[in-house]
Amino acid sequence: MSQDIIAIDGPAGSGKSTVARAVAQALGWTFLDTGAMYRALTCEALHEGVDVHDQGAMGELAASARITTLPRVSVNGRDVEDEIRTEPVNVAVSVVAANPLVRSSMVARQRELAGAQDVGTVVEGRDISTVVFPNATLKVYLTATLEERSRRRGEEGVESVERRDLADTTREASPLRQASDALLVDTTGRRVEDVVEEIVECLKNITSN
Ligand code: CDP
Repeated sequence: MSQDIIAIDGPAGSGKSTVARAVAQALGWTFLDTGAMYRALTCEALHEGVDVHDQGAMGELAASARITTLPRVSVNGRDVEDEIRTEPVNVAVSVVAANPLVRSSMVARQRELAGAQDVGTVVEGRDISTVVFPNATLKVYLTATLEERSRRRGEEGVESVERRDLADTTREASPLRQASDALLVDTTGRRVEDVVEEIVECLKNITSN
């Protein structure tokens, strides 16, 4: 891999999307929201009436799905930017993301997308520093208290956030965990600008050595 990667993992509402987007902008890099990919695939299953518990059928759907996240999230040519954050998707996405057949298609696509850029990429998700880009230039694990993360998630509610966290950390396929060499950043009560600055500084220290 020739391009630089900043891999950002963390639980729901830890600030990954906001921080990753802002870091990418500060560096002039591109940004990849991998959660949006799992969510887009979930939208497609619900739209096509594919049972999300049917691992084989979901694996096939994942292998053939054309998913974009920029400039808007779409799947097989259908714009799902607004639909990806709805309640049925919050519920079903944990099942979709626990499917190893789905994950292998998504991971291959994520590597391909980042590899095709002529600038670095800030990638955020659950398994980015542990599985997708274990040799990333910089690995970051973002976290915050459950109270603050639920507040940021608004309508989704604390029970749903807790349920997704439990599903993400206990599943067999690529569970969410902090990589041993990741920078741990607690975003509770911190301004986005401060967190972005900390990450950019850390990158500078790594790349100047
Ligand atoms: O924005 P939020 O943190 O609430 O979730 P997201 O990043 O949109 O991801 C939605 C779901 O996709 C997560 O709860 C995970 O189950 C799954 N996911 C994953 O398994 N692996 C990733 N790299 C990204 C997301």
